[in-house]
Amino acid sequence: MTRHLLSCSDLDTDAIRTLLDTAAEMHEVQRREVKKLPTLRGRTVINLFFEDSTRTRSSFEIAGKWMSADTINITGKGSSTSKGESLRDTVKTIAAMSVDAIVMRHSASGAAHQVAGWFDGEGVPTSVINAGDGTHEHPTQALLDAYTMERRLGSLEGRHIAIVGDVTHSRVFRSNLITLPRLGARVTVVAPPTLMPSGAAAWADHDGFTLSNDLDAVIAEAPDALMMLRVQRERMSGGFFPTPREYTIGYGLTRDRLRALTAANPEAVICHPGPMNRGLEIAADAADAASSLVLDQVSSGVAVRMSVLYHLLASGEGSPA
Ligand code: NCD
Repeated sequence: MTRHLLSCSDLDTDAIRTLLDTAAEMHEVQRREVKKLPTLRGRTVINLFFEDSTRTRSSFEIAGKWMSADTINITGKGSSTSKGESLRDTVKTIAAMSVDAIVMRHSASGAAHQVAGWFDGEGVPTSVINAGDGTHEHPTQALLDAYTMERRLGSLEGRHIAIVGDVTHSRVFRSNLITLPRLGARVTVVAPPTLMPSGAAAWADHDGFTLSNDLDAVIAEAPDALMMLRVQRERMSGGFFPTPREYTIGYGLTRDRLRALTAANPEAVICHPGPMNRGLEIAADAADAASSLVLDQVSSGVAVRMSVLYHLLASGEGSPA
């Protein structure tokens, strides 16, 4: 395992498998009454979040705490960056307190890579974990998505997974696009033409990728999973679709589409990384359906982050749990 986790492209199939297998061990800890392992005792993990977050930040914090690490949260608004300090000075200041890992979310694509590059160049031993950088990547989300789907569906080898929605602005999508094929899944990317990235046609050259603008046609193919993406209005500078209602008509997982999906494949599951725009990209009936894995994704997220922290910080020191 590398020292940092910046992109899913750094994880080959074996590394993904190892992380998911350890996550399964960690998941057992979640079921215990006393959720505490000594694995990261004496280690310090800083969550440095320059963007809003509910689940990712608390998930990393819980993961660290359950493994006995000291975890501290710093948010952009509450940090000295709001007084004009540069990112470089902020992260070097934090690293100078001998922290073992910085879990970082930033609105700039490539921010985590940049910080890791500074640390490597200057011999700073702190690990950097990318918890979302702009529209680029969100590796632990893709890992937890894969983990959650595997638990319900079994192996993803040969499974058909449709990723639907605001592909252009989604870092979750980009990390999944790398990870799912490495686990043998076939991916269909479904988006309105205005939200399909301009280079997307090139993916069609790779085995196992299909692009579509027609969600109903993809549902009729009976996919094993629909991964709905949030419409990221905060990242949109112009009108990518005429009205929210038209988006829902074309690309929302409505009650009718839920029915069609279940008829086509009764075993099909629904994922969404959250936060959900209920009524926009996903209807309440779908979000709360028995086939929805949304809350399983959240609880699996802790186990996956425990696994990541263990492999980056302590895997040389014996078994995780
Ligand atoms: C995602 C994110 O922040 O990239 N959320 C998450 O981490 N669960 C997806 C999103 O915001 O739509």
